Amino acid sequence: MPNPSARAAHADEAASVLHSWCVPSTWQAPTVVGGDGAWLQLEGGARVLDMSSLAECSHLGHQHPRLVRAIAEQAQRLCFVTNQWGARVRAELAEELLTVSGFAGGRVFFTLAGADANENAVKIARLASGQPRGAVVARERSYHGATFMGMALSGDARVREWVDPAALGVHHVPPPYAYRCPFGSTSDDDCGRAAAAAVAAKIDQTGAVAAIAEPNAGTNGIVPPASYWPALRRATRERGAWLIADEVMSGFGRCGRWFAWQQHGAAHAPDLISCAKGLTGAALPLGAVIVSAAVYDKIADRMLNTGLTYCGHPLACAAGLAAVQTYRDEGLIERSRRLGGWMLQRLRALQQRHAVIGDVRGGDGLFAVIELVADRQTRTPLAPWPQMPPALAALLAAARTRGVSFAARGNLILLAPPLVIGEDELAGAIDLLDELIGRHLPTEQAR
Ligand SMILES: Cc1ncc(COP(=O)(O)O)c(C=O)c1O
Repeated sequence: MPNPSARAAHADEAASVLHSWCVPSTWQAPTVVGGDGAWLQLEGGARVLDMSSLAECSHLGHQHPRLVRAIAEQAQRLCFVTNQWGARVRAELAEELLTVSGFAGGRVFFTLAGADANENAVKIARLASGQPRGAVVARERSYHGATFMGMALSGDARVREWVDPAALGVHHVPPPYAYRCPFGSTSDDDCGRAAAAAVAAKIDQTGAVAAIAEPNAGTNGIVPPASYWPALRRATRERGAWLIADEVMSGFGRCGRWFAWQQHGAAHAPDLISCAKGLTGAALPLGAVIVSAAVYDKIADRMLNTGLTYCGHPLACAAGLAAVQTYRDEGLIERSRRLGGWMLQRLRALQQRHAVIGDVRGGDGLFAVIELVADRQTRTPLAPWPQMPPALAALLAAARTRGVSFAARGNLILLAPPLVIGEDELAGAIDLLDELIGRHLPTEQAR
């Protein structure tokens, strides 16, 4: 924070606001005053290239003119109407979501964000099975949100002591974490199939009515092998359990498709999709549960005991509609797929040079994970999960002073730039990462 106005803004905010996922008295972050494309404008004049789309949500970059215009125009027409009444823009967005998901004959329930999308997806799945407290299978090393049900569904070390998942009918199984396969598999695809078999066994054991999983990108750094989703789909279908795809992070092009599960084809469609983040390019808060026709058939004549005062807020739906049209008109889903493949190759080249990089995964779109290790042969983590190695914290700070913001969790660097990032900007950020890994995380020669 080089200049006095930036320092003053920071002090004001530290004196008044509680920020997420930090120790309040140690909060340290820049104040953002504007943005443009993949760039954030900071108080005091500096600019930072955003290599994480902030919270993996600003898929369209910052201040995309089409989103800003759509929100302003909707505000002129109608700011709010309750979800119990109709709003044309809400129906238009729902139709778009049913189209891009291929869920013809289904329905959309709007929420405010990702956690409540997952909560409501579980509620609707339970309603459709006629078991309001039916068991649900979820995964360790997953993240589904920070509300109490979100925490119960999540396999996230940060919140485990806060909630008893079993008390809320949630049962966890080990994840398809191929680099450190909890089932001892040595091939990625075997690990994916073993993880799906674990879900099947848990459904058999608990009589679960649903399973929830992130099909691809996730905060906890798991990117399942290609075998996982089709095997999971088969296992849940054979047992009559609904499959919920948590596409909060992976949706809207992040993994190179509208929804990440689409990589596996329509035959492997889930029964419900929860989404948020890229749904509005983060311009306004909005989540959604996209419900298949099969699920809708089961609930059509049952009381839907749910609601949020602001669900399906017209301003947020206008942003969502503009976002979907922008993804389509600017070809951003395909662009993410193309640039994501290129980014993965560049990161694999970094892996050749830096022994500290144990694994590189993702790359189906503009999402990739770099996993850092102390020893590549033994795969010893650089710090015990979920701690962040101090050298990585130093690397992130150095990158920020050089004008690039990277996201990290524990030993993981998560790359998820806006889908509109310039090719030169992306290349420059990876060059900087290369340089800073060499400087801050040197280890033995790459083997
Ligand atoms: C896969 C996934 N699900 C759910 C959530 C929770 O979304 P929100 O923070 O909007 O409640 C997140 C947030 O990072 C996520 O990545």
